[in-house]
Formats: sequence, structure tokens, C-alpha cells
Amino acid sequence: MSKTIITQFLSQHGMYYGDLNFETECQKFIAEMEKGLSQEGSSLDMIPTYLSVKNNIDTNVPAVVIDAGGTNFRVGLVSFDDNMQPSISDFSKTRMPGIERELSKQEFFGTLVDYTKDVAAKSTEIGFCFSYPTQINKDKDGLLLRWSKEVKAPEVVGEMIGANLVEGLKEVDGKDRNVAILNDTVATLLGGKGITSERNFDGYIGFIFGTGTNLCYIEDSSKITKITDAQDDTMIINTESGAYNKLPRGAMDKVLDESSNNPGDYQLEKMISGRYLGPLVQEVLKGAAKEGIFSTGCNEKVMALENLELIDVSLFVAHPHNSENVLVQCIEEATDCTLMYELIDAMIERAAKISAIKLSACILKTGAGRDQARPVAIVGEGTTFYKLKDYRQKLDFYMRSHLTKEHGHYYEFIQGEDLNLIGTAIAALAH
Ligand code: GLC
Repeated sequence: MSKTIITQFLSQHGMYYGDLNFETECQKFIAEMEKGLSQEGSSLDMIPTYLSVKNNIDTNVPAVVIDAGGTNFRVGLVSFDDNMQPSISDFSKTRMPGIERELSKQEFFGTLVDYTKDVAAKSTEIGFCFSYPTQINKDKDGLLLRWSKEVKAPEVVGEMIGANLVEGLKEVDGKDRNVAILNDTVATLLGGKGITSERNFDGYIGFIFGTGTNLCYIEDSSKITKITDAQDDTMIINTESGAYNKLPRGAMDKVLDESSNNPGDYQLEKMISGRYLGPLVQEVLKGAAKEGIFSTGCNEKVMALENLELIDVSLFVAHPHNSENVLVQCIEEATDCTLMYELIDAMIERAAKISAIKLSACILKTGAGRDQARPVAIVGEGTTFYKLKDYRQKLDFYMRSHLTKEHGHYYEFIQGEDLNLIGTAIAALAH
């Protein structure tokens, strides 16, 4: 009974996962990928990385590895021994600059230099995993196209990230350095390839489901018609899938988008990723409370909710009777708990279905993974990917029932520790 109420409510507001047609959405995504690879352009940037997976790596040489993610900023030193086993040292972690308050260009790069200069004294080869939409050039530097994930440093848009960092470090110690900028999806793909080199996969996908969400894959260079200077017959493409804008959005998606730093942009990301799923669930719960779906007392408490984060939501589904949880504190009657659980579960299911649509679209587009003995490796990373209850099972369910059962393509999820740090070091040490 409660399931029907929830389904009807979500459907009426355009938020019900069951109303998304998997096949139609996959085909739309593929069409948008194709346009993004051509001069025409699309909401998918389809950024050429000038990296393939056929790299030779310098061994026993340390690389400085920097990771500017959605929430954290990490720096360390990585080297590989003769057997390509990585070792990580001098590691530290702090908050990503520009999240807490708006920074000027000078402040932003000044902070980067401060955070990295001690480790940067130990090697001139730098790999910089920069997890924002960045146009990569042949020298592996990157120009920031725009910010995502609510970072506030507007003067940095249009700047070369590597050149500014290298210049700042040179002012400290007078040394020249080489830097390779790469997206976190790309670093993850390279890291995953690095730890599975003895396996024979029919292609790799780097998939992030964390603060933001994105994926990269390996494309035939001949199909990247917007460039003519590919150095190899294949190239990793960063799709920037968070910016995809062809999914049907619901009422609450639009409300959340309007309150963000960049209304209209990053529509897919705002529907599913870790930075946004908490506030989105808050909107959905408030919508339900407004329509009197919970008990009277619960409706009132839900209406007063503020700053709900995914961690609260995640802990609720993990333990829906823990009285310390802010959502549990809204519950007055047993049915409130059931209804709330079902609403949240449906939002997690939507996130999994949308993730499965874009992963399947990539695999269908390349035609890879038709031989069950040579599946496509999907290298997954991100706290939300690992920790959000039931997300992985739901994702697998949609991939298996559509991609594998209906289309005959096989895939395998690969995971490992610190894959994006390892992949970033590979990019820094590749020649
Ligand atoms: C955002 C960024 C993208 C990144 C993703 C995952 O979508 O724009 O570059 O890969 O978050 O961190």
C-alpha cells in the first residue's frame, strides 16, 4: 500500500525511476556522445585527453601526485618498483580550496602552492588529478572550462592549471617542473588498468560516483572528428557526463538546480551525485510532507529540515531506527519510517538506474565486451559508490538486465585502493 502512495507521488512530480525508459535514454545518451565528439558539440564535452592506455612508465622514480577532488585535496609521492608495485609516501589530506569560501585566482593558486611545495621539493615530475571540466592540450596541461561541484573561484575559469602551479612552485625554489593534468575518471581508469595488466579486458571505463559523477572510456581516434592531432589509434575520452542535459527532470530536480551556484548546468550530476543527493532527498521529503503523506507531526518536522546531507540519508537507510539520525528524529509513527525509507530507496534506485544508463551507453557505443571471456572493465571509485547502501546492487541489476541480457555485452567491476593516485602517477611517469 505505502509503495503505491510513494510511486504515485514520485511519478506525479516527474521523479519516479520507473518512468525512465532505459533503452530510449541509452540511445539519447549515445547520440549526445556522438555530437560531443564532432565539431557540432553537445552537453557532453567529450574531452580528448591525449592519453591512451599503452604507456611505458619510468620505474624507481618518484612522482608528486596531487588530487583535487570534490571535497578533499590530497598530495603525496608515488613510485613504482621493477614489478610495477606502487608505493605511496609523504601523504597528506586537507579540504579542497574554494569550497568554504570564494577565492581569487591568486588565493587559489597560492593555496595550491602552499599545500604542495614540501612534497614538490622531492621530484620535478608532477601528476595532477584535477576533477573538474578541463580542456587538456597535447602537452598535458589543462584549461579550466568551468567549475562544477559548487567550488567558488571564478577567476580561475579559463586559466591553465598546470602552468600556474608550476610558476608558483618556481617562485619558491627556482626549479622547473613537468606536470600532467588529468581528470579523476582518467586517473582511475589508468590505475585500474595498472592493477589488472595480466588480464585481457575488451576495454576500460573509469567511473566516479562520489561528490560528483562522471565517466571516461577508450574511443577510436578516428571517431573523435573534432580533432585531427591524435597521436595514437585510440584515446581516453572524458565524457563530463555530469553535465548531460537530456534526461527528463522532475519538479524537485528543478528546485535544487535553481538554488545551486550554476543553475541549468550539470543537470545529471545534480540528479544523482553525492554532493546533491542529500539536498535533493530533502526536497522530495518536503514535497511529500506538503502533500500530507506522513503523519501530521512528522510532516511538520520534515518541513523544518535544513541542510540535509547524503551522509544523514545514507546512515538512515543503514539504520532507520537510530534515534541520533536527523531523519529518524522526524518520525512519529511506524508508517512514517516505512514511507520515508521507501522514498529514499526510490531516489537511490533512480541514481543507480541513471548511472547504469550512461555506463551501458558507453559500452554499446564502442561495441565492446561481446565475448564473456573478455568483458569491459569498469573501474569504480568514489565514497558514494562504495558506501551508499544498495546502490551497487541496484546498479548491477540494471546493467545485467539491460546491457547483458538484452544486448549481450559483458562487464566486470574492478576496484582497488588508491587507484586514482596510482593512475595519476602513471600519467606523470608515462613516456
Ligand atoms: C564533476 C567534474 C568531473 C569529475 C566528476 C567526478 O562532474 O566536473 O570532471 O570527473 O565531478 O569527480
